[in-house]
Amino acid sequence: MIRLFVRPMPLALILIFATFIPMLMAGVRIVQIPAELLPEDSLRLTVAPVSHWLHSIAGLLFGLLGPLQFARALRARFGVLHRLSGRVFVVAGLGMALSGLALLAQVESIATALLDIARAAFSVALFVALVLGVRAARVRDRSTHRAWMIRAYAIGMGGATVALVMFPIYLINGAPITGHASDLVFVSWWLVTIGLGERVIAQTRHKEVYQ
Ligand code: HEM
Repeated sequence: MIRLFVRPMPLALILIFATFIPMLMAGVRIVQIPAELLPEDSLRLTVAPVSHWLHSIAGLLFGLLGPLQFARALRARFGVLHRLSGRVFVVAGLGMALSGLALLAQVESIATALLDIARAAFSVALFVALVLGVRAARVRDRSTHRAWMIRAYAIGMGGATVALVMFPIYLINGAPITGHASDLVFVSWWLVTIGLGERVIAQTRHKEVYQ
């Protein structure tokens, strides 16, 4: 019984908890966009309904499937499912990167150049990471495959999980931060998330211990 409590929490559970807010938001947008029920502060995005909707669906799938792909118990027991949902994860990630770029091109930005450049760069990085991850899987190079997929997940979720740091800042500050300060926090958090991904890759390079 005690072991149940001292065992490290499975990574998949931590990831599901950390990504809950953006997942919920993406799920709500999937319904709101076709129903034309977007809230006031997202009305700017109505100029690109297809990209906005595809981005929300792709983000939801990518965020839901990522933690499941990394769960060792599921990989070991349900190898076929891992390969099937892995394909969906990759297509969703590629779609998310492309629709993210499309949103950048189609919607008038309210962010600073710093965040827009970071979004474009991370979209390209996500695309490249997924392609390299698939290539490694094809040649059965499991350790390289795992590294590129963890990297892709960290790049993809880095921007989406920024609420985890923005909310405490809001509580301390008493008001949301805006402009350059907000975008600096945004990009810094994205880099921290990528750094965390690299740490997981380094720690699990020789043994599959991330679950
Ligand atoms: C490389 C990763 C990502 C990039 C580059 C990216 C890029 C973007 C861009 C440029 C926008 C438009 C922002 C605006 O002008 O207000 C956007 C919005 C959005 N993104 Fe992402 N995104 C990424 C990951 C994700 C993920 C993982 C999710 C899902 C969990 C997600 C869900 C959304 C949603 C729901 C919106 C619409 C927000 C709204 O309706 O107000 N994105 N994203």
